[in-house]
Amino acid sequence: MQKVLIATSEAHPLAKTGGLGEVCGALPLALQQCGQDVRVILPGYRTVLEQCRNLRVLAQLTVPVSLEPVRILETTLGETTVPVLIVDAPGMFDRAGGLYADLDGRDYADNANRYTVYCRAVVELAMDRGGLYWQPEVVHCHDWQTGLVPALLAREPVRPGTVFTIHNIAYAGSFDRERFDTLQLPADLYAPGSMEFYGRFAFIKGGLVYADLVTTVSPSYAREIQTPEMGCGLDGLLRHRSRDLVGIINGVNYAVWDPANDPIIAARYDAGTLENKRPNRRAIQRDTGLREDEDALLIGVVSRLAHQKGMDLLPAALAPLWAQGVQLALLGSGDAQVQSEIERMCREHPGRCAAQFGYDDALAHRILAGADVFLMPSRYEPCGLGQLYAQRYGTVPVVRRTGGLADTVVPVNASTLADGTATGVIYEDDSAEALSAAILAAMYLRRAAAQWRQLQITGMRRDFSWGESARAYVEVYRRARVHRR
Ligand code: ADP
Ligand code: GLC
Repeated sequence: MQKVLIATSEAHPLAKTGGLGEVCGALPLALQQCGQDVRVILPGYRTVLEQCRNLRVLAQLTVPVSLEPVRILETTLGETTVPVLIVDAPGMFDRAGGLYADLDGRDYADNANRYTVYCRAVVELAMDRGGLYWQPEVVHCHDWQTGLVPALLAREPVRPGTVFTIHNIAYAGSFDRERFDTLQLPADLYAPGSMEFYGRFAFIKGGLVYADLVTTVSPSYAREIQTPEMGCGLDGLLRHRSRDLVGIINGVNYAVWDPANDPIIAARYDAGTLENKRPNRRAIQRDTGLREDEDALLIGVVSRLAHQKGMDLLPAALAPLWAQGVQLALLGSGDAQVQSEIERMCREHPGRCAAQFGYDDALAHRILAGADVFLMPSRYEPCGLGQLYAQRYGTVPVVRRTGGLADTVVPVNASTLADGTATGVIYEDDSAEALSAAILAAMYLRRAAAQWRQLQITGMRRDFSWGESARAYVEVYRRARVHRR
């Protein structure tokens, strides 16, 4: 048994904006089930405080930058027994807007200060200076918001091991010199060999430079980020640390994502009762205003509308396909320009193209259950969760060959069709033509009913549950403790 503190800016069900929240909501329980003594530490956002009232105050800390004492509160992660420590600094986190941005979607101007306060509090508890009488042997940090933790812990003569996980290298948490000067951090952190990054200060470098081990969320992405094309300027540093860089695929929380016992969808089904997927198809067509066409290839999309996700390619990719009978049910949020192009496409193809904008967990489940294929035309994808869910829902993934998509979908070709291992369509080029061709390939495949059914069933039987990944993290923690830098 190892004592592990998981530092993250999101953990479902308390706080979540995307995949990071889902992963950090499920991994702690999986680690606990592997016999680890796990605690999670989260910022005290308003949504967190509202979900858990009357919390016990465990400690009170004084940290630089915070104008008020920081209280440490305690709750548990959803229905589990995993303890969650909450860094309650109301001036920083108890706000009306989102986790990172205000109600108008503008990043908070003081994000660097907010996560400096958070990281300082994590370090105090990691060093057992808060009076909790529990010191982790390993601190597992996630994404740039936690990058200062390994950097500050590295200055302690005796300290826990540190692991830093990259969920998306494109988000570096980079701020200008003036902002750095307000953070009351050791001046030597602003140096090229430390956290300085092209004339700015990047939180993510704290993790990449100082953590004992660095992980990312798939083996392919671990390789890709060491190349100049995909490393976002950090590839040199990552090549330098390549022996300490490990790719571990995310798991799926099948308690939430399984059509066999999903309370949200119109009809439940599994690999043996695949015909019960049909009512879900009709339900999504009816609910979103699509024509109840039995033959159409119904494409599902649930995604952030960010450059990463390639959704700007949809109008051009689908243009030649409407006449062939495709339908699209899309749920997304993000880029306003992409949204307005998709809205236009919906106006031009009523009954064939439906989109809803905003965040809607229930609709995400219903699209997964109702669609024939699940589309992820990502430019890069560290792991991706949608294609994992889609496989369990018998919804054939059509994905670009990149990152975790390449690692988790078995592409259709002559030999995988013959031996029954194929689970989806994979294409190469980041272009509307290639995407179009991949969708067309799926359309033809679906007409071969027996083969299609085989694809669906093979996907549904695959097991991406957390057990194996959690065991890989346990081994990473052991290595981090033994090989402290
Ligand atoms: P990322 O974290 O890069 O957005 P992932 O595939 O890892 O990508 O995780 C995204 C998760 O968020 C998936 O579970 C997906 O279903 C969900 N999601 C994305 N956009 C929405 C939305 N608009 N409404 C509901 N769920 C969404
Ligand atoms: C990031 C990535 C996504 C990954 C998720 C969880 O948001 O974009 O690919 O699945 O983190 O690790």
